[in-house]
Formats: sequence, structure tokens, C-alpha cells
Amino acid sequence: MTEPDRPIVLVVDDEETLRRVLGREVARMGYRARLAADGDQALAALGKEEVAAVLLDLKLPKRDGIAVLKEIKAGWPLVEVIMMTGHGSVETAVEALRAGAYDYQQKPCHLDELEQLLAKALERRGLAERARALSERGDEGAIEWGGSDAMARVRHDLEKVAPTDVPVLVLGETGTGKELVARELHARSAFARGPFVAVNCGAIAPSLVASTLFGHEKGAFTGADQRRLGLVEVAHGGTLFLDELGDLPLDVQVQLLRFLQAGEVLRLGATAPVQVAVRVVAATNVDLDAAVAAGEFREDLLYRLDTIRLVLPPLRARKGDIRSLVARFLDELERKGRPRRSLSEGALRALEAHAWPGNVRELRAVVERLCLLADAPTIEAPDVEARLQRGKRKGEGALEVMPLRDMEEILIVKALRRFQGNKPEAADALGIALKTLYNKIKAYDIDVDAAVAGTHRLA
Ligand SMILES: Nc1ncnc2c1ncn2[C@@H]1O[C@H](COP(=O)(O)OP(=O)(O)OP(=O)(O)O)[C@@H](O)[C@H]1O
Ligand SMILES: [Mg+2]
Repeated sequence: MTEPDRPIVLVVDDEETLRRVLGREVARMGYRARLAADGDQALAALGKEEVAAVLLDLKLPKRDGIAVLKEIKAGWPLVEVIMMTGHGSVETAVEALRAGAYDYQQKPCHLDELEQLLAKALERRGLAERARALSERGDEGAIEWGGSDAMARVRHDLEKVAPTDVPVLVLGETGTGKELVARELHARSAFARGPFVAVNCGAIAPSLVASTLFGHEKGAFTGADQRRLGLVEVAHGGTLFLDELGDLPLDVQVQLLRFLQAGEVLRLGATAPVQVAVRVVAATNVDLDAAVAAGEFREDLLYRLDTIRLVLPPLRARKGDIRSLVARFLDELERKGRPRRSLSEGALRALEAHAWPGNVRELRAVVERLCLLADAPTIEAPDVEARLQRGKRKGEGALEVMPLRDMEEILIVKALRRFQGNKPEAADALGIALKTLYNKIKAYDIDVDAAVAGTHRLA
């Protein structure tokens, strides 16, 4: 990375030695360091150039760190702030997080922890900036409702329940737009000014789910050398989006139920609970009623979350919406600076004839690829057919009846090979969520390197 590309990190501390040491360490971590001794100097530095993150001492002369934090967040909402606390009282740390700090570190700082925190904070900043750029660009990220009755019903119910604090369960196959709906609920709710915290219950190692959700005190278990707030607490005042709810381990289900009933969080190893107010939205593509019957999901928790269900229909059940979705995606691509493309009537019909197992996500990926590969401004039926048929025809000769499980594994190995192990691209081509791909790679114990090299037994 060239010098001007490197993010700037501002160190704010009144102790000169510490400031210098931290500045040097920040530079060693690959950032450009700037130093400030108090709040005024810090704000002046922020006004001068684009700062990515601030390491902010809690105890500063004149105004204290929390006051400075609030001013930073008011003037530069995208700048991530990591607080450095002296004797770290819980209350101040919580106050700092509520005021928008990314996290806090107890002094004396562990440099490698600080390095990781900074990297994570800046990663989040990247996401936040992208999100802002998207929202400024208009309706990208907004739901395209189409004209189907099924979606009209979802929309009706969503608009009714969004302003309340009632929990909402969003159900539907992969790629039907569950996350979009969750964000829409947040945006239209009384919690919209608070954070939207998404937790992918299936992507966290089962042993870490409880502490990720509910946090832990210093010393709660081996390796817990710091207090950490759980995501439930971080979502205070906003929306907690529990994605892939069906994957939540049973013991954590009990804790979640307790939280929903009492509205308070007990961090692991803590003696007193903390009050937390959040709007809960949960999503899953698992049949929860069946999971309850199978003893994999607690009935009392389902009952608690199941006040309102928004069920997103699969795309094959609302093919009339394909045209408006395609139009939306074409507009989005054009806004991204791609040449304007259109689809002929025949091409649209060919899309409508497809089954869309990956639902809207798959449709979006197909439209994007059609546009990328198009030689002419108008995409015709044969282009679409070639694109949608290719996958089918390839295996057709060899297609024999075999366990579906093997079929899946073969397709995953092929996709990994075709995209040189690039999982997002492979997932895209398979029309499944990236996380689903990860889960399947794990479940089938697929050696990705072997798949790429063509040495996998099914390659
Ligand atoms: N109604 C819609 N309008 C516009 N885009 C949509 C719509 N539904 C889905 N999409 C797009 O399809 C993709 C998948 O949507 P989303 O992530 O919300 O699906 P999901 O139901 O959460 O899937 P999964 O169960 O695999 O996580 C996203 O790129 C999203 O923007
Ligand atoms: Mg999702």
C-alpha cells in the first residue's frame, strides 16, 4: 500500500510517553499515526485530514474522553473510536459503547489485541462507508415488491408491525430476501436510530455463541482476560437480527428465551444483569415447526418469537415479479457504471420459465452475468437459455440416479474448481448463500485445495 492509501489513526492521550509509544506502534501496524494531547487537538486533527480511527484516552484534561467521543461521533460519524480506559469501570465502558465507541481497551494496552481491534474496526468502517454510499445512491438495498399478491401481503404486514416492538419471524427459502426485510423492519421502526446488529447464529462456533451474544466478564473462563460486551447489549436501542435462528444451539436457546422474557442480559461470569431494550427480528430457512417436533428447537422460544411471521414466497411462486426485479437489477448495474442493457421479450420469457432454486439471489447473479457477457445492448432469449442451460446440459449425459447428497458434493467440487477456490463466486454460481456453501463444505468435509487442483475424488 502506498503512503497516501494507508489509513490514518489518531492517538489521543495526555501522557506524552504513552502517546509517543502508541504512535510508534500504530505506525508499525501499518497505519499513518497522528498524535493529540487533548480533545481540542483531536478535533483539530480530525478537521484537517481524513482520519479512519481514533484511540481515545478516557481521562483527558479539560473535557473527558466521553465528551470528546460524543463530539467526534457527532461530527465524524464514520470514524471508529476505540476507548482506552484506565481502571475501566463497567459503567463508563458501557457509556462509551452507547455513545458510539467501537470497543474499549484497558490500559496498559495489549498491543496485539489493539492491533486486532483496529483491524476489525477499520473493516467495519469499510462496510459502513459502503452502506452509506449505497444509501446515497438511491433505492439500492430497498425491497422490490413486484406485483404479486403474496408479496403485497408481506408488505402490508411489514408496514403494520414495523413501528411496534413486537418480535418478528422472517421465513423463506434461501435468497428470498429475508435480510432485506429485516433491514426494512429496522428502518421503519422506532429503533431505526439505534444500531442494526446482525448475528449469524450458524456462522459462530457453537462453543462461542453464548459469549458472543451475551458477553462475558473478565476471568469468566480461561482466556477471558477482558470484559466483552455481547451483541445483544451492543444492539441496545436498536434491532437485533438473529439470522439462521434454526442453527442456535439448544443451551443458548434457553438463555435467549430468558433474555426475551426478562429484557435483561447476564454476562457470563457476572453477578448482576443489565437492562437491554432491543427489537428482535429472527430469520431462518429451516422449518421451525418441524425442528420443534424433532426436539432441535425449543417450543417455548418459538412461541415467544412467533407473534408475527412474514413468510417470503419462493420466486417460482411469483414469477410475475421477475420483470420488475430484472428492471431493478438493470438499473442498479447502470448506476454502478456498467453499460445499459435490456432484455428482449423472449429473454424475459426464458427467465420466467426457469425454476430459480436460489430465488432472487440467483436471479440477480444471472442478470449480472448476462449483462457482463452481452455483446449487444439487447439480450435475447438464446443468450438466456445458453446461460441457464449450461449447468444442466453439462452433466446430462452422465446424469444417473445417485444420492442427492453425492450430487451436491459433485457440484460443489466442480464450482470450487471452476472458480479456483473463490467461494463467493462458487456460491453465486451455485445459487446458494456463501454461508450455505461453507456449511456444506464442512458437512461433506470437502478439501478445497484438492477440489481446485482437480485431485478431489469427485473432481
Ligand atoms: N425483493 C427483492 N428486491 C430486491 N432485491 C432482492 C429482493 N429479494 C432478494 N433480493 C436480493 O437477493 C439477495 C439475497 O437476499 P437476502 O440476503 O435478503 O436473502 P436471504 O433470504 O437472507 O437468503 P439466505 O437464507 O440465503 O441468507 C440480495 O442480494 C438481495 O438484495
Ligand atoms: Mg440471509
